[in-house]
Amino acid sequence: MGRGRSAVTMDTKRDARVGQTVRWGPGADESKRLGTGAVPASVYTDPARYALERDRLFRRTWHVAGRVEEIAAPGDFLLWERVGQSVVIARRESGRLAAFHNVCRHRGARIVSESGHCESGRLLCPFHGFAYDLEGRLVGVPERETFDEAKLDGLRAYEVAVEVFAGWVWIHLDPKQAKPLAEYLTGLVDEFAWYDMGSWAYHGGSTYVAEANWKVVLEGFLEAWHTPTVHRRSVRGGFDVPRSTFAALDPHSMMVVPLAALDIDSAPKPVEHRQFADCQYLLFPNAFLNMFPDQGYLITVYPIDANRTFCQGYVVARKTTPEGMTAEAWEKNVKSSLGMMDRIMGEDLAIAAEIGATRESFAYRENIYNTLECRITAFHRQVDAYLAG
Ligand code: FES
Ligand SMILES: [Fe+2]
Repeated sequence: MGRGRSAVTMDTKRDARVGQTVRWGPGADESKRLGTGAVPASVYTDPARYALERDRLFRRTWHVAGRVEEIAAPGDFLLWERVGQSVVIARRESGRLAAFHNVCRHRGARIVSESGHCESGRLLCPFHGFAYDLEGRLVGVPERETFDEAKLDGLRAYEVAVEVFAGWVWIHLDPKQAKPLAEYLTGLVDEFAWYDMGSWAYHGGSTYVAEANWKVVLEGFLEAWHTPTVHRRSVRGGFDVPRSTFAALDPHSMMVVPLAALDIDSAPKPVEHRQFADCQYLLFPNAFLNMFPDQGYLITVYPIDANRTFCQGYVVARKTTPEGMTAEAWEKNVKSSLGMMDRIMGEDLAIAAEIGATRESFAYRENIYNTLECRITAFHRQVDAYLAG
């Protein structure tokens, strides 16, 4: 799937003097190489394609399922339900995480119906009381002698792979196909080291539903040049979108958007882009991470069906108060970010619904993308590679 290419690109851009990958300044921008593009409307409307996305894309990729703070104590468990899948992610007594499909091996009932805490370490299926431990192993069967023992032997809820990186909980629905998360993340591992997000605090978030295909919603997060139009009331300038630089970290991607408040032009060279710009990342296939030096938010984007999308937003921030700010002002600032995320999402999802509204029109035939939208073109290439395989 062409994942080796980004490693080469990154190496050529490493500044030997400081051992830093240069993402801003002459030669850092890959938008011309990534190019312009087009996709037919059927990419968003064809039911057969939607089925392929579910089975070949979402089943074969790592997903951000939450923040570690949501399952901080042994016995805590998180119910994750997306793309028709139901998964339990639990913290075991040992402190390690386990994940399994939330599907009883008796007759398929959900084992749990909400997130929670389990003191006993046993989760009981509500139908006939099959008991599972926090790793998903079947540890109790009522009327056991009435079953064929051979069918029960070694039975467990099907496993899901789980790992933690940068304070986020990641899962893979098909552990047999999963490569290690660090390998899957490729260049993002280096890129995220500067933030040290694992030490940041989680401040909660919101959920949203959009009346559009999930890719319509995600594409809004892969370019910023709609900011002066769609976000003219909320963001009100300050972002120097035309000077953004773009990079592919296949299958992921990123862009560096200069922000007046961070004054990238006065930054020492080579520019530490994470300190002097708004950096926006695609965590392929469906998470958007918008990072400022001291805080950020992440949005996951999942199809409910081909025409509706469920999003979840999470706000995170450094625990230490940034220089030149009082602790009180910092707390207020982070709190206001939650409201800002809701406001920006409201604007993004309203425009996504405008696209959803034309999906059956005879006149909606294709999307065309410019080089400011090169990350969308790159995204479609990556999706196509998964669907073909
Ligand atoms: S379906 Fe779970 S115990 Fe019967
Ligand atoms: Fe937007």
